[in-house]
Amino acid sequence: MSFHTTGHGAQVGTTDRSEDGMTITDGTPERLDAGRTPDVPPSLQLEGVAYAYPDGHQALFGVDLQVGRGERVALLGPNGAGKTTLVLHLNGILAGGAGSVHVGGLPVVKDNLQEVRRRVGIVFQDPDDQLFMPTVRDDVAFGPANLGIRGAELDARVDRALAAVRLGDLADRPPYHLSFGQRRRAAVATVLAMEPEVIVLDEPSSNLDPASRRELAQILLSLDVTILMVTHDLPYALELCPRSVILSDGVIAADGPTKEILSDPDLLAANRLELPFGFDPRVLG
Ligand SMILES: Nc1ncnc2c1ncn2[C@@H]1O[C@H](COP(=O)(O)OP(=O)(O)OP(=O)(O)O)[C@@H](O)[C@H]1O
Ligand SMILES: [Mg+2]
Repeated sequence: MSFHTTGHGAQVGTTDRSEDGMTITDGTPERLDAGRTPDVPPSLQLEGVAYAYPDGHQALFGVDLQVGRGERVALLGPNGAGKTTLVLHLNGILAGGAGSVHVGGLPVVKDNLQEVRRRVGIVFQDPDDQLFMPTVRDDVAFGPANLGIRGAELDARVDRALAAVRLGDLADRPPYHLSFGQRRRAAVATVLAMEPEVIVLDEPSSNLDPASRRELAQILLSLDVTILMVTHDLPYALELCPRSVILSDGVIAADGPTKEILSDPDLLAANRLELPFGFDPRVLG
């Protein structure tokens, strides 16, 4: 496997970035950016994003990342790499450092935040950051109601989102009476109900039981949206995302086909990533 060193790390495999996206030059017919059309702006475009927290801790050191319409990309990396910090830049929750973020061509700046947040739905790492209403149903209705959706249309959206995560039976309970895994599913429903163009999930499979984990994968695969998924669950990345990006110490360390990344033991070890015992990505996918 050869590496192309970029300004921000290694490019995995024999891939080459061209004007129309990532083209595989080793004869592999598959395109990583299926669904991307040259004239359509990328769903996510980060250029030189650097960020230091108010206490002075610098978490991002100049991240360049482009995600095309309809792509599903896994964002991998060890604890403290800056994954959540990056995610919080995608709808302007964190801003003020260097560089720029665009969502579907729209700059993520104060005046555009309402439209940016309509386009990008984030499922936070901690569901308790997302659930604050008296009932699960109210939480799921909150976002679409803010967009002005009312009445039967609002009810239908909420019911669809709750059914997708199999929480219909718990809709009228307070979120703080739910188990952690149920709260995570409720957090996913709050984002599904917004019907965004881009869904960003920060460790969506953590604390889900195996059936819920599989059901969430089925939901995400059924959606016609762009997905950026932060995960430590490498088999989940392989199942859902043809492309993976490794973030390490606030810079992109690798970007390429998930199967190639997960098949490179040195690259995984260098970034504290470990496959589950007995899991071999080369015989799957
Ligand atoms: N509010 C904060 N103030 C200061 N430093 C912070 C703050 N939040 C995070 N950091 C630091 O920024 C760095 C990146 O943190 P971040 O939460 O983005 O990591 P992560 O890749 O999401 O890790 P994990 O896999 O554990 O979720 C870490 O060193 C962390 O200690
Ligand atoms: Mg995190």
